[in-house]
Amino acid sequence: MSLKQSILQILEENRETSISGQQLAKRFSVSRAAVWKAINALKTEGYQIDSVTNKGYRLAEDCDILSAEGILPFLKLEYKDTDLYVSKTVESTNQEAKKYSAKKTKQRILIVANEQTLGKGRFGRTFFSPENSGIYMSIILPLNIEAINAVLITTAAAVAVCRAIQSVANVQPQIKWVNDIFLEGKKICGILTEAFTNVESGIVESVVVGIGVNFKTKPEQFPDEIKETAASLFSGKAPSVTRNHLIAEMTNQLLEICGDLNDRQFLEEYKARSMVLGEKIQFFRNNSWHIAKVLDIDPNGGLIIEDEQGKIQTLNSGEISIQWIKTEEKER
Ligand code: BTN
Repeated sequence: MSLKQSILQILEENRETSISGQQLAKRFSVSRAAVWKAINALKTEGYQIDSVTNKGYRLAEDCDILSAEGILPFLKLEYKDTDLYVSKTVESTNQEAKKYSAKKTKQRILIVANEQTLGKGRFGRTFFSPENSGIYMSIILPLNIEAINAVLITTAAAVAVCRAIQSVANVQPQIKWVNDIFLEGKKICGILTEAFTNVESGIVESVVVGIGVNFKTKPEQFPDEIKETAASLFSGKAPSVTRNHLIAEMTNQLLEICGDLNDRQFLEEYKARSMVLGEKIQFFRNNSWHIAKVLDIDPNGGLIIEDEQGKIQTLNSGEISIQWIKTEEKER
């Protein structure tokens, strides 16, 4: 790690307190001039660093630049060995992640970008990914699990994201099956899980979990197609946390749940946060929409429904797009 990176990490770890040039020089056994040069280099990169006379340096409260040095301090000790790659712009972090997965790495990897030019959503849709305002991240989990458990990862990821958002922002996000995260009736986050399966053994060798959060995107920034349905976690108010912190918290929560997928307790939380349980929905299959009532979530994360003919069936996430029918529409 260079001196500049080491200083950045110290500043990220100590956002609440100022650190003097002398303390930094002593800590890294360098001259104060070297510290000053590193601080100036960080400022040139866009970091807002406040210098207070007789106190020292600290990052400005609203300084929200993505970096490995900013994520690392918030990762739990047992996950600090995750490889972190932070980029300004990529086409898609899931696409980047797949390049690493193809190398059959055994290492956990987190890929983060400040902007995506070709962000991917489910069903071949795009995911709106403007610079500086969202979180676009993909985690590669080298798992070696059976395909049935891999399906559960999407469900686990939805719970992990909700837990993380709730813990850092003190709000109560909900889940629209299978993995859209909503706040106050609008979508603030989407998850796209992609798996690498060994065709011969049927074993999933690695899974890429892609998470996109509208963090502080302004309502007027959203394209017309999603203006009515999308919102940001921090809409019209100053974020109470940095994107780096939330990224680390989502990673911690996801790795914790995926550490033991046989423990299905998280499914209870999934149900408690579900927006569609007990609701009337329509689902798209075989080129047409069907109406149904949602009865339950099965132990593999499938949606148990009763269709209009009274037949009970389970919908699995890969094939189906659902919309829930809002109260006023139900009454018509
Ligand atoms: C959806 O809402 O349909 C899923 C959206 C998933 C978006 C995330 S952003 C990070 C990762 N990279 C991508 O290209 N997509 C996922």
